Amino acid sequence: MKPLVALNWKMYRSAAQEIAAARQLVELGNYPATLAVFPSFLSLYSITEQLKGSAIELGAQDCAMAAPGAYTGQVAAQSLVELGCRWCIIGHSERRMYLGETDELVVAKVNQALAARLQPIVCVGETAQERAAGVTLAVVEKMLEPVQGKVGLCIAYEPVWAINSGTTPTAQELERALGHIRKIMGAECRVIYGGSISGATASILKEVPSCQGALVGKASLDVQELKKILESMSN
Ligand code: 13P
Repeated sequence: MKPLVALNWKMYRSAAQEIAAARQLVELGNYPATLAVFPSFLSLYSITEQLKGSAIELGAQDCAMAAPGAYTGQVAAQSLVELGCRWCIIGHSERRMYLGETDELVVAKVNQALAARLQPIVCVGETAQERAAGVTLAVVEKMLEPVQGKVGLCIAYEPVWAINSGTTPTAQELERALGHIRKIMGAECRVIYGGSISGATASILKEVPSCQGALVGKASLDVQELKKILESMSN
């Protein structure tokens, strides 16, 4: 399986900036990794056009928890597929934290995505306090419970404390968490890591046998950083 390098652009840029940045992505060389970009909803329509003919895949940062209907402000998984999305991030800690997304909502979104044939990337991970209390694996296990047994998921282990902090877990900590996730979810499930992956930190993932890719935030905004990440994950 080729490693997945998923670029979560979060809400860092305007739609116009995202569209300009997508042009740069298309000009990147070829790497033996699956590259997928997750812009804001606003620029998906333009970026899907830009990506035509390139191997770069498209994803959304969220999807609705219900099929098309009376849900103001939401975007249906089915509509995302129509736009050319192959992937969808679900349950990112920033949504759990700022919007109160619960495990129940996450599982409803996962069901919608799977029904529409949109591949969910479900984010799980512990807070700094939970890590200090030594309950990382228990926290991850509890977050996975509602989606356990579902086929076709990708799980991103994203410890909340590692996101945008410049710090990553050690290779041993990562293997322990990712290995545990694989054990729970089964060998079919792709397991990736996210949290402060940059040109300087990406090489750690080569020391983690269970890791099958990265979910990259801030560093994905910089093409030079991205090249370094792709190089170190391809070697
Ligand atoms: P950073 O790479 O900016 O730490 O963000 C990670 C993340 O949240 C990806 O979803």
